[in-house]
Amino acid sequence: MSGDLVAFPTETVYGLGADACNSKAVARIYEAKGRPADHPLIVHIPSLDHLADWAQEVPKYAIKLARDFWPGPMTLVLKRSELAGDFITGGQDTVGVRVPDHAVALSLLTAFEKVGGKGVAAPSANRFGHVSPTNAAAVVEELGQYLSKNDIVLDGGACLVGVESTIIDCTGTTPRILRPGAINELMINESTGFSCSEFKPQTTSVVDIRVSGSLENHYAPAAKVFLDHTPLPGQGFIADAKLQTPEGVIRLASPNNNEEFAHLLYSALREADAKGLTEIVVAQPNGTGIAVAIRDRLARAAN
Ligand code: TXA
Ligand code: MG
Repeated sequence: MSGDLVAFPTETVYGLGADACNSKAVARIYEAKGRPADHPLIVHIPSLDHLADWAQEVPKYAIKLARDFWPGPMTLVLKRSELAGDFITGGQDTVGVRVPDHAVALSLLTAFEKVGGKGVAAPSANRFGHVSPTNAAAVVEELGQYLSKNDIVLDGGACLVGVESTIIDCTGTTPRILRPGAINELMINESTGFSCSEFKPQTTSVVDIRVSGSLENHYAPAAKVFLDHTPLPGQGFIADAKLQTPEGVIRLASPNNNEEFAHLLYSALREADAKGLTEIVVAQPNGTGIAVAIRDRLARAAN
């Protein structure tokens, strides 16, 4: 309410939050991130009960999704209510809403609601285009110099999921995945009874809704990312634990499965920068589910 910012953990990545009804506070998010002002923000609410504050004409399948997967790593894009100002939606007539699944985030949202707050607008707590932070130290490293004395960073440990929420466009007759995440296509289809079209990575030229994560170069560390190459001495390497590290290569992560891959990916990319590496090779995970989200982020990081 006071207009200060709060960085907080969620199960996906850390967010940089402000009162979603306070345009000045929200403007400070854009400043701290260095993000273009026409990119919409996700409004975080404590439960499905608060959805009606922010959205209207919510289709039945969206309510079903919310019941099945909230709190959880899923953002629904819906027709906005009057409360959802242009400074949240980037001037679009839709709004992104999510109930995060993290004790610290939910405590924050519930406490805010108790003092009359309607929701917390929060993008990932990184500079625009950069890797999202998955622990509190990474938030401070990213944004420390852009935060003010009264802003706070809540430390909730490492984010369990590690990649951003699935964004689902719920403005049409059937759901459409705008950004893949831990809530995958199969789960969405099973929940809604619809078959949402398979997620196809979009490029900026064909994207019809502004999803900043859909810009081609995003989620990127300072080091150059190469996908599915044989790593050379001096290069960083992120790959499934079954793949060995060639001599002279710097292993950054060895996940045992795709969930662990998502969980470790962003901190491994950051570690490469911290170590001063200039090149990272990533052996992409195969398969469906969270692997789709991982490959989506990697394709953009490597762009
Ligand atoms: O997991 C997450 O979603 C994290 C945590 C903090 O909740 N947040 C996050 O926010 O990733 P951000 O701003 O970094 O990415 C949200 C994406 C942006 O690409 C934005 O363009 C898109 O959501 N978005 C927000 N509102 C939208 C809308 N009305 N229509 C289409 N895309 C929207
Ligand atoms: Mg982001």
